[in-house]
Amino acid sequence: MRVARRDLLAGVGAAALVPAIGDAAVAAAPSPDWPQGPLAAIDGLPPRLPVTDPGRSSLDSGWLFHEGDIIVAPPATHNDTYLSTKAGNAAGAAAVDHDDSDWQAVTLPHDWASHQPFVESANPSQGYRPRGIGWYRRTLRLDAADRGKRIALQFDGIATNATIWVNGTVVAHSWSGYSSVLIDLTPFARFGAQDNVIAIRVDATAMEGWWYEGAGLYRHAWLSRRAGVSIAEDGVHCDPRKDDAGWSVPVAVTLTNIERATVGATCEALLLDPAGRMVARATVDIAVDPLIEVTASLTLPASNPQLWSVEQPRLYTVITRVLRDGVAVDERRTAIGFRTIRFDAARGFFLNDQPVKLKGVCIHQDHAGVGVAVPDALIHWRLVQLKALGCNAIRCSHHAPAAELLDYADRLGFLVMDENRVFNPSPDYLAQLEWMVRRDRNHPSVILWSVFNEEPMQGTEAGVEMVRRMAAAVHRLDASRPVTAAMNGSFYDPANVSTVVDVMGFNYYQRDYDRFHRLNPAKPITSSEDTSAFETRGAFRTDPAAHVITSYDTAAADWGATHRASWAAIVQRPFVAGGFVWTGFDYHGEPTPHAWPTISSFFGILDLCGFPKTAAGIRRAQWIDTHAVVAIAPHWTWPGREGEAVPVHVSSNAETIELRLNGRSLGRQAADRVMGNDWSVPYAPGRIEAVAYRDGRVVARTAHETAGPPVALRLTPARTVMAADGVDAQPVTVDAIDARGRHVPTANLPVRFTMTSATIIGLGNGDPNSHESEKGDARSLFNGLAQVILQSGTARGRITLTATAPGMKPATLRLDAIAAPARTVEPAVAAKQAIEGWRRSPATPNRPDPATAPAAGDNNLWAFVRAGTPTPAEPTDGWRIYRARITPRRRIAAAGGTIRFAAVAGRAELWVDGVKLADKPTASTGPIAARIPAGTGARTVLLLVEAAAGVESGLVGRVGVEA
Ligand code: GAL
Repeated sequence: MRVARRDLLAGVGAAALVPAIGDAAVAAAPSPDWPQGPLAAIDGLPPRLPVTDPGRSSLDSGWLFHEGDIIVAPPATHNDTYLSTKAGNAAGAAAVDHDDSDWQAVTLPHDWASHQPFVESANPSQGYRPRGIGWYRRTLRLDAADRGKRIALQFDGIATNATIWVNGTVVAHSWSGYSSVLIDLTPFARFGAQDNVIAIRVDATAMEGWWYEGAGLYRHAWLSRRAGVSIAEDGVHCDPRKDDAGWSVPVAVTLTNIERATVGATCEALLLDPAGRMVARATVDIAVDPLIEVTASLTLPASNPQLWSVEQPRLYTVITRVLRDGVAVDERRTAIGFRTIRFDAARGFFLNDQPVKLKGVCIHQDHAGVGVAVPDALIHWRLVQLKALGCNAIRCSHHAPAAELLDYADRLGFLVMDENRVFNPSPDYLAQLEWMVRRDRNHPSVILWSVFNEEPMQGTEAGVEMVRRMAAAVHRLDASRPVTAAMNGSFYDPANVSTVVDVMGFNYYQRDYDRFHRLNPAKPITSSEDTSAFETRGAFRTDPAAHVITSYDTAAADWGATHRASWAAIVQRPFVAGGFVWTGFDYHGEPTPHAWPTISSFFGILDLCGFPKTAAGIRRAQWIDTHAVVAIAPHWTWPGREGEAVPVHVSSNAETIELRLNGRSLGRQAADRVMGNDWSVPYAPGRIEAVAYRDGRVVARTAHETAGPPVALRLTPARTVMAADGVDAQPVTVDAIDARGRHVPTANLPVRFTMTSATIIGLGNGDPNSHESEKGDARSLFNGLAQVILQSGTARGRITLTATAPGMKPATLRLDAIAAPARTVEPAVAAKQAIEGWRRSPATPNRPDPATAPAAGDNNLWAFVRAGTPTPAEPTDGWRIYRARITPRRRIAAAGGTIRFAAVAGRAELWVDGVKLADKPTASTGPIAARIPAGTGARTVLLLVEAAAGVESGLVGRVGVEA
């Protein structure tokens, strides 16, 4: 089946794009889809988010990576110690001229833990993968025309702790794997031919969570160049409001000024409707003092706007601009939605004054194959899978998500509980919470701020005081959304945090809903977490020894409940706003209830690859109201079990269900959309079919057919086209089919892949017990399925993926890589070794002895100078020595190289290790260079410069050594 080409971000209900289990629309297809076979490919454009910040470019490419720490010996002498403490003088891998020539080239997002093998001695919560320490370096070049601009670096997520240096100076410490790191690079920047070197030490031994957190620069990185007066990062707050007079959008814009004088500017805000038509405009003049942030406030009127909702997530855009002398110098585009939200203590959640039950899932961020380095397109694909379940809400457990997740949530119509990681109101941690609110408060999808998950101090006076401070910080930044906390007990303790949150969040403890509500009738309640049921996808018998758990929705954690029981508790109670299932997807780590050799969880409605388990059919029946659905568990390929009673579970939201085996009716039952319907069916091969009726009419049907032995492989992409931008990614489903083209749900074959014009960035199969590598070109099918995640290259044309397995007819998939709109990308720069750390002698009237050096401990007479900084003119002629030490990089040490001074003012002699190698006989500014022979170890480079009276002299340009 082919679905018409559509823009996946055009605000179309995503469910419509995904043919799913037993949809009425596809039920008539000869071969029913899930779980019998893979989803049909969609011939659509890849999801692409609009440019929101034209001042920034992607810094995802051009990185070098070193796995493991690089330890430098501490300084031994007084002088080395003195120098080691100075700005710009970082040592080791943080030093500007560190030799990174044998480091690995990587592109972000990058999760080095996802490349690791599973090791029993490694941490179970982190998925038994060693994490450790790693280094990244990246060289940047800034044009001379960038001088005067505000230059900023942004890292969206680094797992877990990090120290960042720019040009040898520490510019940031990051203590959270989930907060962006924002760095004003301007004071450290070098322009023109000089390199700027970013060095990052990532410490992934630190753990913030009890789940797989990955390791490294696993989200995007950005570089921005802005005018001297510009909009601060996360500096736009749009806050659509409805009062008796109607809708309006108060807009607050934070402006900064790095210039030396107060600047008068105009701040402009435009409101664009979903079709892109401008419907309102406001301006305000504002004076911005140097190095101070000021906020410009504007209000955009909005008469009768189209509302944002789960079904029709209509987005408006606010364009904010700073104008100087009428010319726009900086701009942001912010997607907003007009919607009202309200939690009612008796009747639950209201969106636009309509009751909406939260049909939510908790998610972690990792996916099979890629770990936490999830490409944007795969984030989108995961959300589309959730939408297809009828899910309307997401809890970002237990930390702020990638920015793109919320961008997609806005566009797909999800309601989001945005959650803070660390429960702590002290300044460093409060800053993390405030950053999250500031970044995310424009999203219409976000409806709740959660300040913690399950904290042992939740029932203490200290806990109450902590939440009060955190809630106040949230409300200072956002007065429009309630604060919640995910409590697991302590609800009745004399001091407990439920008294100081706006909405009470229950993790589990479903039996307490009534009592709590009775005792606190004015307090709105939601389940913040429930279920924690276990299923192994495609398995229908529990085998404790093999760590396999049946998918009949009968197993759950002691603190949890089955999918059916947990939703029953929520759906029956109007005062419970909704639920958040633990979890939407399986995730690496937290192997529960089985540990090693199990490496992932079993909780997902969908497995690690996003393949649906039985829970998916159950949730669809519970959650989808728009059309009839029906699903059957198990599959119907049970050779050897002929005559044996097989439990059959049917999930449907229709009125009546009929089960048929090989055309013979096994009876009808009134459908129970929460608990499902059960039959016991003596197994006979053939076709088992569930037919769903409403008002006596067939509204949906689905079937499984007994498959024969597998004979061929099949590859089914999520999309038949990919953007040729080197960034687009998509999962391809791998399965085996029998001689009649039917999916074989029992196949567990080893499969190998070859690929042209794209890259395999990860593989998976949803088996929580598999130790196969998630990288490379091989993966076994697990209960019939595996997944290959492809990333496009930059060439347009054909992508091919071929799958082979012993004895099977191979499968070849052909995809089109199509032109994609250009992205603004910061070009990768091959680092050249610069010679830094020059000492300059005092001026002498006569030519000094080149052997002259600063005395030990002299940090005063000989000046510290950087190449590119001219020596000021003197009243008389004079000589100076410029001296530096350099250890040539490996290639130069092996083969020799050239020391090159791009621009020297004055007559000069170049000496290396006591030997004169070149002369510059003219005084006018010009280059000087000399070959140096091969050889390891440090060299002393010396330039003798003779300057005439009254003119600048010295190292006017870059100095480097090249191969
Ligand atoms: C909860 C916790 C989750 C996860 C889950 C497993 O208590 O909030 O992060 O650990 O249990 O059932």
